[in-house]
Amino acid sequence: MKFVVASDHAGVDMKDFIADFLKNKNFDVVDLGTNGTTSVDYPVYADKLANYILSNNDVLGILVCGTGVGISIRANRYKGIRAAILYSDEVAEMVKKHNNANVMVFGGRTMSKEDITRRIDIFLNTEYKGGRHQRRIDMLDL
Ligand code: RB5
Repeated sequence: MKFVVASDHAGVDMKDFIADFLKNKNFDVVDLGTNGTTSVDYPVYADKLANYILSNNDVLGILVCGTGVGISIRANRYKGIRAAILYSDEVAEMVKKHNNANVMVFGGRTMSKEDITRRIDIFLNTEYKGGRHQRRIDMLDL
C-alpha cells in the first residue's frame, strides 16, 4: 500500500506531519506539494492528487486544506475519486466500511494532529463491506 499526499498552504504543515506519520508506519509516501507557506490554489493540488490516484494502482490519497472542504469538492469532480472528510471517529470508520473512500481529507486549521492520526488508524483498521455498498458506489459517477 502506497500513499500520495497533497495540500494547499493552509494544510501544508499538517500534510507534512501526516506524511511523517505514515512513513513511520513504513508506508511509501509520494508528496505532490505544496511545499512552503506561499499562498497557492487548492484545486491545483486536488487535481495533481486525483490524477495520480487514477493512473496508479493500490494508492490511497490524503488531501489537506484549511477546512478540507474546497480541496474535497474539487477532488470529487473526478470519476473514480471518493474523497471523504474524516470529521469524526465514527465517520472515519464508515467512509471505509460503506464508501470505500480512496482519499482521506482533513482540515489543517480545524482538526488536531491527535484526531487526524487516530482517524487514519481507524480507517486503515476497517474493512470495506462490499455487497449492497458496491452497488451504490457503482451509481456515484455521472
Ligand atoms: C485557503 O485560505 C482556504 O480557503 C483553503 O485552504 C480551504 O479551507 C478551502 O476550502
